[in-house]
Amino acid sequence: MKALHEVKSQPTIFIIYGGSGDLCWRKIMPALFNLYLDGWMPEKFVIVGVGKSASPHEEYRAKLLDGINQFSRNGTAPEDKWAAFSHQVFYESVDLTDFATYNVFCKYITEYETAWDARAYVIHYFAVAPSLFPVIASNIAKNKLSEQREHTRIVIEKPFGHDLESAKELNKLLNENYKEEQIYRIDHYLGKETVQNILAFRFANAILEPLWNRNYIQHVQISVTERLGVESRGGYYETSGALRDMIQNHILQLLCLIAMEPPNSFNAGEIHNRKVDIIKAMRRFDAEHVRKAAVRGQYGGDWMEGKEVPGYREESNVDPKSNTETFAAIKFFIDNWRWQNVPFYVRTGKRLHQSASIITIQFKDLPHFVFPPEAVESWQQNRLIISIQPEMSIRLQVQGKRPGLEMLLNTVDMVFDYKSTYPSYTPEAYETLLLDVMQGEQTLFMRGDMVEAAWELLMPVVNAWENKPSLNFPNYSADSWGPELAEALIAADGFHWYHLPMNSNNKH
Ligand code: BG6
Repeated sequence: MKALHEVKSQPTIFIIYGGSGDLCWRKIMPALFNLYLDGWMPEKFVIVGVGKSASPHEEYRAKLLDGINQFSRNGTAPEDKWAAFSHQVFYESVDLTDFATYNVFCKYITEYETAWDARAYVIHYFAVAPSLFPVIASNIAKNKLSEQREHTRIVIEKPFGHDLESAKELNKLLNENYKEEQIYRIDHYLGKETVQNILAFRFANAILEPLWNRNYIQHVQISVTERLGVESRGGYYETSGALRDMIQNHILQLLCLIAMEPPNSFNAGEIHNRKVDIIKAMRRFDAEHVRKAAVRGQYGGDWMEGKEVPGYREESNVDPKSNTETFAAIKFFIDNWRWQNVPFYVRTGKRLHQSASIITIQFKDLPHFVFPPEAVESWQQNRLIISIQPEMSIRLQVQGKRPGLEMLLNTVDMVFDYKSTYPSYTPEAYETLLLDVMQGEQTLFMRGDMVEAAWELLMPVVNAWENKPSLNFPNYSADSWGPELAEALIAADGFHWYHLPMNSNNKH
């Protein structure tokens, strides 16, 4: 990993394939501009957005500014800063399938390396449909744009593969042309502050480790629920579904951070190894297991906050008989010394009652209850709740005595709340990840074998759900908590899904 001053003095050219797309508009460009505003960008840089439609540089810049003004955490861009930044932003319309047209990037590189009198770092960002990943990766290589291995990096958005076979094929193609150190596979959840803090919380605090195992933990829940439906992404979602879209990547990554063994050092390879160990130790599914441990759902239309919303099958670009799941819940086990027989329940879904990403660690019950039964006003086994978003907090639920003349026990929360502890800004995930690419820091990215291991684990579920269309879709209504079977999945073991009390933050 490079120190900041080295990054600042490192001339950098960003080539963003999919430069006119939604991701670039909403996330990538606001992140690059915020890095610029906060003084993290290299002193010499150029950004080339690449798209299909023709557009003069000025028109492209105006569109980007509109995105920044709408989506940046810093709000409206200061005019002078935008003028200086956008001066370094260009747009090229290129047929990405035609390798000869990549010549245009060679020209940029030569021109700026001559002007800067230095070798530039070139970051190729693949923010395009996955079907284009292989052709772009090989065209960059064919044009000898990847020869300077130390100076060339490629950033690949998700989804990485559609199944195990396609992920393996893509890895093979990338490995033929690039070294693993050049490949940055994005999972934007890993860039979130609250997610990075899981490592800090677990491995910078000695008091947790003795409790962090099957002797004290009864079960773990990871719940990523969203109020939004698929919106305009029906076409993509039809090829994906909740399992591929959220569990194969974001949720398994969260699970790994909770379950991994302590690394020997804070080093990308070391942390990746510990995560892969977990995925490999996760109990495999057979057909019977899938039926018992995995639940799928699809939302129907209903009313949400006084507005009628369409069911998934009525969304645009969605098959009216679609078998795609918009909800998935799975019970996992990790067959290793630390976690034997501790269930990890995960669930995710769209059009649910609350938007919230929460990890709940429930500890085992008391060995013996010493208070009279009438002392219990409310009761909850100890729980540690890591709230990723929108509330950013860690709370420990403990029993306490209500102040007063009687011994009355109730549940209270000890809370670490980010906003009140750190009132200054929180960077967006994409800012962290882009800076890491510039620094050559791969900890928060997915290594090739990790992606394959995740696919391998989930393929029996993918296959079972694809081979046997659901007979009861849609099986949950908008604004609910998902299908009843997901409640049954966890209730069968005597637990229930935890959710934070509703407040204005997580209603939308
Ligand atoms: C994306 C999924 O990776 O993550 C989307 O494709 C999902 O379907 C999104 O809505 C959730 O991300 P966040 O950061 O809003 O929780």
